[in-house]
Amino acid sequence: MRLAGSNVLLTGATGGIGRVLAGALGRSGAHLVLSGRRADVLQSLGDTLGVRTIAADLSVAAEVQQLARQAGEIDILVANAALPASGHLLELSQAEIDVMLAVDLRAPIALVRELAPGMVARGRGHIVLISSLAGKAATPASSIYSAAKFGLRGFAHAARADLRTGGVGVSVVLPGFVRDVGMFADTGLELPRGVGTSSPEQVAAAVISAVEHNRAEVSVAPLAVRLGAGLAAVAPSLAALGQRAFGAGALADRVSAAQAGKRPPAG
Ligand SMILES: NC(=O)c1ccc[n+]([C@@H]2O[C@H](COP(=O)([O-])OP(=O)(O)OC[C@H]3O[C@@H](n4cnc5c(N)ncnc54)[C@H](OP(=O)(O)O)[C@@H]3O)[C@@H](O)[C@H]2O)c1
Repeated sequence: MRLAGSNVLLTGATGGIGRVLAGALGRSGAHLVLSGRRADVLQSLGDTLGVRTIAADLSVAAEVQQLARQAGEIDILVANAALPASGHLLELSQAEIDVMLAVDLRAPIALVRELAPGMVARGRGHIVLISSLAGKAATPASSIYSAAKFGLRGFAHAARADLRTGGVGVSVVLPGFVRDVGMFADTGLELPRGVGTSSPEQVAAAVISAVEHNRAEVSVAPLAVRLGAGLAAVAPSLAALGQRAFGAGALADRVSAAQAGKRPPAG
């Protein structure tokens, strides 16, 4: 599907990857509607790019529905917003888990449910769900993030089958660790040698390619990281052994401690 001239709703536009995505989608000729939670940051981003904005807290079901309705006739949804949702399972309260799942899993599904009927009625549309390689490979201290990202990936493939005959494509994009900006880069942590990163521009290019070529799934990471995630998908016990040998638990604990500031209220 062509981006030029299409109406695109992008969530998480105020985040690290979201800003890069907004710029890239805008340059491709799309008519953007940007969404984010921080109204002031969103407004100044919208002013800079000269595009429409709608602030919404995606942990609140009514605001998700309102966002979809206010956005109007949307041809392409890029569901990018997410919380890091990291932390040892037993250290997370149920209230925190509920908010994490609401933002990372329920909200993208609800936006698709709201926007897909209009796309099908017009016989054209595309949906891009930003998952993660954590939607293929589970790691310590990320049970809720993986639950959401595995869920989003499964949802994407099944929704793709359901919407295909209506002329609507569905893609899932799986970034690995992203450098420079975003929820991993914000931790300031270094990865072990050999674990490569991708740029946010590569994620944006993957999103554009997914829309333009109707790709089902696109992973964005160096080959070794993609192979590791692929192994984890087919042999999770073996992958877990490998993770323990390389000290993945200690790194995951440091990442989750560094992301504590993005945690929802404990309730
Ligand atoms: N960074 C990575 O290494 C990496 C790797 C794999 C996948 N991803 C995925 O890439 C996507 C973008 O992540 P990022 O790295 O850009 O993260 P980020 O910089 O932390 O940005 C997250 C975005 O989600 C929005 N958001 C969070 N809670 C929200 C809520 N309750 N309601 C509405 N919006 C909310 C934030 O809005 P405000 O800023 O306005 O609060 C922000 O725009 C996510 O789906 C993430 O899981 C990232």
